[in-house]
Amino acid sequence: MIMKAAQFKAGGPEGIYIDDVPVPKPLPNEILIKVMATAINRADTLQRKGLYPPPPGASDILGLEAVGIVQQLGTDSGKWKVGDRVMGLLPGGGNAEYVAAHEDLFLKLPQSLDFLTAAAIPEVWLTAFQLLHTIGKVQKGETVLIHGGGSGVGTALTQLVKLADAIPFVTAGTQEKLDKAKSLGAFAGFNYKNETFGGKVIEITAGKGANIILDCVGGSFYEDNIEAVAVDGRWIVYGLMGGGNINGDFLSKLLRKRITITGTTLRARSVQYKKELIDNFSKMVLPNFESGKLQVVIDTVMPLSNLAEAHSLMEANKNNGKIIIQVDENLNKDEL
Ligand SMILES: NC(=O)c1ccc[n+]([C@@H]2O[C@H](COP(=O)([O-])OP(=O)(O)OC[C@H]3O[C@@H](n4cnc5c(N)ncnc54)[C@H](OP(=O)(O)O)[C@@H]3O)[C@@H](O)[C@H]2O)c1
Repeated sequence: MIMKAAQFKAGGPEGIYIDDVPVPKPLPNEILIKVMATAINRADTLQRKGLYPPPPGASDILGLEAVGIVQQLGTDSGKWKVGDRVMGLLPGGGNAEYVAAHEDLFLKLPQSLDFLTAAAIPEVWLTAFQLLHTIGKVQKGETVLIHGGGSGVGTALTQLVKLADAIPFVTAGTQEKLDKAKSLGAFAGFNYKNETFGGKVIEITAGKGANIILDCVGGSFYEDNIEAVAVDGRWIVYGLMGGGNINGDFLSKLLRKRITITGTTLRARSVQYKKELIDNFSKMVLPNFESGKLQVVIDTVMPLSNLAEAHSLMEANKNNGKIIIQVDENLNKDEL
């Protein structure tokens, strides 16, 4: 059987093409799903440039998430049945009509969520949940500084911080992104293109600084971050959109403030780690989408044939929230 899938020649978005390739066969403990919708992430743009190869054993087709319907079970798979609606956190292969992955990498799609909405959930919400709870161990009342406030991950983080009864602050590069973040619960927002945010965070936290910094920018923000972080603060680096270089007397400031810096990536973690994350997320967070307490933030929905355009939009930093890729042509966009 043949399916359409996203392939690329390493380089710019123009190197993306949709090709006919064989439908994957589910291995033991895997399930095959018919993909209804998927989404793109920054990591896909890095992979396309040849800077972020898939982990060993993962599909080389782009796409870290997909939602759809279970079509076939691999031997030893017992968690799902054919016809179940699921959403998957994938090591690759999501931007295609079918994808096979370990059965523990899927979450049950709540009845009240449609496929296009659900496609905004797996990668950024599980990343955000991992950063804030598994690693950040956020406590009620703590202040949390979130960079990339308009990103897929950032829009999820702002809401999760609020849900944890903590206080989110964001940075972003446009007023529209800051306004959206405030509508999602951000206490304050700083436009990093117009102002330095280190002193502002100190001011707004009455001299204490942020207990947690969730940092997807890295190098270009390090001076403001070291100023903004509280004594005994946790600084979690999960992206390097502003580069990986720092200089100057950084370590003495780190020492004086007793800061803990942690780096993390989700894609290369074990199935067991992701299973625990998915189980905890399913219990603690998923019901809040059904009740309307949490909302996915969708910037755009595009067909799979426009994947190159979707990458260009993301790399121009124009999206505020997720870019969804509709794979099944019959899904109704009005559902959004
Ligand atoms: N470690 C992990 O496990 C993991 C997992 C998922 C995602 N991530 C990381 O999380 C980040 C967000 O991913 P996403 O897919 O949600 O991204 P996204 O939706 O593409 O949003 C990223 C936003 O970050 C801002 N930005 C870009 N370059 C910047 C810079 N140099 N300085 C400050 N802000 C900048 C841009 O908005 P402005 O208009 O505000 O500039 C851009 O729209 C990425 O760094 C990604 O690699 C890491």
